[in-house]
Amino acid sequence: MTQNEICGPRHVAIIMDGNGRWAQERKHPRVWGHIRGSQIVSQIVEQADDCGVKALTLYAFSTENWSRPVTEVKVLFTLLRKFLKKERKRILANNISFKVIGDISDLPAATQKLILDLEEETKDFEGLKLTFAFGYGGRKEIIDSINKFIKENPGKELEESKLNSLLYRPEIGDVDLLIRTGGDKRISNYLLWQIAYAELWFTKTKWPDFTREEFKNILLEVSKRERRFGMVSTTDCLENSRKQADENLKIIRKN
Ligand code: IPE
Ligand code: IPE
Ligand code: MG
Repeated sequence: MTQNEICGPRHVAIIMDGNGRWAQERKHPRVWGHIRGSQIVSQIVEQADDCGVKALTLYAFSTENWSRPVTEVKVLFTLLRKFLKKERKRILANNISFKVIGDISDLPAATQKLILDLEEETKDFEGLKLTFAFGYGGRKEIIDSINKFIKENPGKELEESKLNSLLYRPEIGDVDLLIRTGGDKRISNYLLWQIAYAELWFTKTKWPDFTREEFKNILLEVSKRERRFGMVSTTDCLENSRKQADENLKIIRKN
């Protein structure tokens, strides 16, 4: 697949949903779905890289998921630890810059260390920016960012660009494409600020059945969509549309 370097989905975010139902349909406990689901993550990461995606942000555990049965939560922690151990080599070999966004302070200390070490080791890598949203909530990210600003700049007004720079991983920028598997059409507190102009894609496929092929097709379909960003019509990409908006503002202010 040839990617348009600037106009293709640069930042893709995925809500990896449907694990529990996938397992229940097969008369297995929900955690089976999580185990199966965690096994396909690396294939999707690889496909993103192959298709020229620059940033991939995966929703693995939300702030609301803390309300699940403790046994299920523990399995999710274990799967994260296993993923980190298993994929470390591959992440390093592929120049992937890894980061977790969210509150990981309640994870076992050993898992926190695995995360922090891998983040440190890969922080200057220039390949795919792979982000796991774990213990993550979109509202919490916005509130945390605003509070950081207030603390550092008492009495000052917060601007959009400043808030952008205070998010958990500012360098990944806005989401171009948000995919949700599992059939539900909702956002579930994911990247609320960053999805303002994202293309949305909902698939009935449950996460454990999601394949490289389906992912590739979605990327292809979405790169054919016309993203207008409030304009009448354009084949230009965001970069050009922002320049145009700035030019127009200058002209209007002059007159
Ligand atoms: C997504 O699958 C994984 C997490 C939320 C951790 P679910 O566990 O939500 O699966 P369903 O939606 O109940 O099928
Ligand atoms: C969203 O899925 C969170 C993750 C995929 C990690 P949920 O299954 O928790 O979302 P709701 O409860 O259906 O909105
Ligand atoms: Mg779900």
